[in-house]
Amino acid sequence: MRSPLVVFTMILMAITVPMVAAQKVELSIDASKTGAKIDRNIFGQFAEHLGHGIYEGIWVGPDSKIPNTRGIRNDVVGALKAIKVPNVRWPGGCFADEYHWRKSIGPQRSVTLNPNWGGVTEANTFGTHEFMDFIDQIGAEAYISVNVGSGTPQEAAEWLEYMTAAAPTTLVKERATNGHPAPYKVALLGIGNESWDCGGNMTPDYYVSQMKIYSRFVRNFNPAQQDKEQMLKIAVGPGGDGPRWTDWTETVMKAYQQHTWSWDINGLSMHNYTVVHWPPSYTSVGFGETEYSQILKSTLEMEGLISKHSAIMDKYDPDKKVALIVDEWGGWYAPFPGSNPGFLVQQNSLRDAILAALNLNIFARHADRVRGANIAQMINVLQAMIITDKEKMVLTPTYYVFKMYVPFQDATFVPVTFDAGWYTHGAVAIPRLDAIAAKDANGRLWLEITNLDPNEPVEIEAALAGITAKSASGETLTAPKVDSVNTFDAASTVTPKPISAKVQGGKLTLKLEPKSVTVVSVEQ
Ligand code: AHR
Repeated sequence: MRSPLVVFTMILMAITVPMVAAQKVELSIDASKTGAKIDRNIFGQFAEHLGHGIYEGIWVGPDSKIPNTRGIRNDVVGALKAIKVPNVRWPGGCFADEYHWRKSIGPQRSVTLNPNWGGVTEANTFGTHEFMDFIDQIGAEAYISVNVGSGTPQEAAEWLEYMTAAAPTTLVKERATNGHPAPYKVALLGIGNESWDCGGNMTPDYYVSQMKIYSRFVRNFNPAQQDKEQMLKIAVGPGGDGPRWTDWTETVMKAYQQHTWSWDINGLSMHNYTVVHWPPSYTSVGFGETEYSQILKSTLEMEGLISKHSAIMDKYDPDKKVALIVDEWGGWYAPFPGSNPGFLVQQNSLRDAILAALNLNIFARHADRVRGANIAQMINVLQAMIITDKEKMVLTPTYYVFKMYVPFQDATFVPVTFDAGWYTHGAVAIPRLDAIAAKDANGRLWLEITNLDPNEPVEIEAALAGITAKSASGETLTAPKVDSVNTFDAASTVTPKPISAKVQGGKLTLKLEPKSVTVVSVEQ
């Protein structure tokens, strides 16, 4: 029998201890210890001629009833402007290595095929001028992937001359006749896409010989891009884990180390999707905690992959002149039931918002080497920002993460240290929390904290050094379920809400909901 004192103590505990006590986690942030600049280009987008990514997603044509400017959807432009898209990679993807730019300029467009993506016809009504108009409308820069697989250096060189030259050549006059006398700016140039696979199944050595030729002859002639704002040339890089990919990086970087005056590269691309295993079989909606935890575990492998390839790059390029550009990343799930499997249609849930935050944080922690990334893809394809259906448009949870992260564009990385332990589910054990901090151009401190645990809230106490913190405010993104989504009929299920944060005695305190992404700014 228990003594009356023990029984009394048990009753008292039951009254005073809440059923679910939020775990307390201490963070420490010293704003005076800054790292590399978080290049705004890590928030880049990817728009391929694939499914409804371009046609219907961006391009509806000038005669459409859907409000548009010169054929480009106004609603989509408005939404993308708000997330300050730094660059858009176009026209592919696998599509790029079968793309012939001449077929999509001028008044007569050729109808071609898109054998990679559903075998549908390609109307070529969205070409160079329409793409440049689109990125101009959203305020982004061009990341053009040229055709190395089935094109020629001459074709690519002429495309660049057509786009960027100012001198009155025949191609420049043709561009003027087609409506654009002034040269276009091309900020980034991709020399092929996945040349180890859909881009031509090349060996690393064969690719390197092609890369040198394209780097030499595919010139940017824009007078404004000669001394300053030079076009960055991005070589094809690895596409996964294992010796095949480390060999690829070794070969390209070894060639770079020995490069001569006649050619150069400024970036090495990397593709890494969160997929667990091929073909993608996880569903994008209608899943539970098991799939949630497995997908997040898989996405965190981005860290090891970047570290591994950065280490190889360090060997050949210790000054980090060549950027690592993760120009395809994101969750890739089973095709949405009823959709054309070649169109890569999937829903976008709260899980994807968390997945996006984890990847962006990994890129930020590697900001000295990772100076670009492009989520796949921008609209209606894979982990999209935006889903459209005729005149309807909905912004996805991933869109809102990109919006919340705008202050991190070009901000200076500030390390955050903490030990939050692990979230476990079945055989999966992943860190409970993830966080980054950065200082913007005005000296304001920004903090992002992701609570991966779908069940437990977390109380944060962040010790702030190096600034005199006065107050803090922010937003948090969460939803009732790990697979909550935004739909045309219920567009605000997963949208950011204000969060209350307190600053006292140099300490910031706030409570994070389970499965949430939170961004807070600290006022001095
Ligand atoms: O994003 C879809 C496809 O994935 C791209 O076209 C290709 O580069 C990659 O394999």
